[in-house]
Amino acid sequence: MQWKDEYSVGIAEIDDQHKGIVDLFTVINAAIDNREGWSDVFFKLEQLREHARFHFALEESLMRMHGYSRQAEHVDQHKHFLEKLDQLQMTTLSRQVTMNTIHYLSNWYTDHMKTQDRDFVRYIIDHGKVNLTHLPDA
Ligand SMILES: [Fe+2]
Ligand SMILES: [Fe+2]
Repeated sequence: MQWKDEYSVGIAEIDDQHKGIVDLFTVINAAIDNREGWSDVFFKLEQLREHARFHFALEESLMRMHGYSRQAEHVDQHKHFLEKLDQLQMTTLSRQVTMNTIHYLSNWYTDHMKTQDRDFVRYIIDHGKVNLTHLPDA
């Protein structure tokens, strides 16, 4: 999986995290292609999960701060990804990971960056204000 400029959402921190996840997909694809042992694949999927969790948390806090109107829908999408990743990790335990299953996730991710992530970043750009959860002490 290769990073393409068309994936960029226009916020460097988010693009950098997206690039990190794209790189992990490349590493996982190679591991499956090279028929690495199931524990290596499992460990790489675990790294993907950690990156994805951290990244989704950042996006979701940005959405909350900016009062993004479609946050619930977007959070459900993130949950869907993590559930599919769970299922994929379980299949590595029974040594049945195929390219099809990892392709589903990488295609999902590409589409997510180009549509839903772009949509929420556009919202932040257009609304340009932050909703605080509370006022900090003076
Ligand atoms: Fe994202
Ligand atoms: Fe997202």
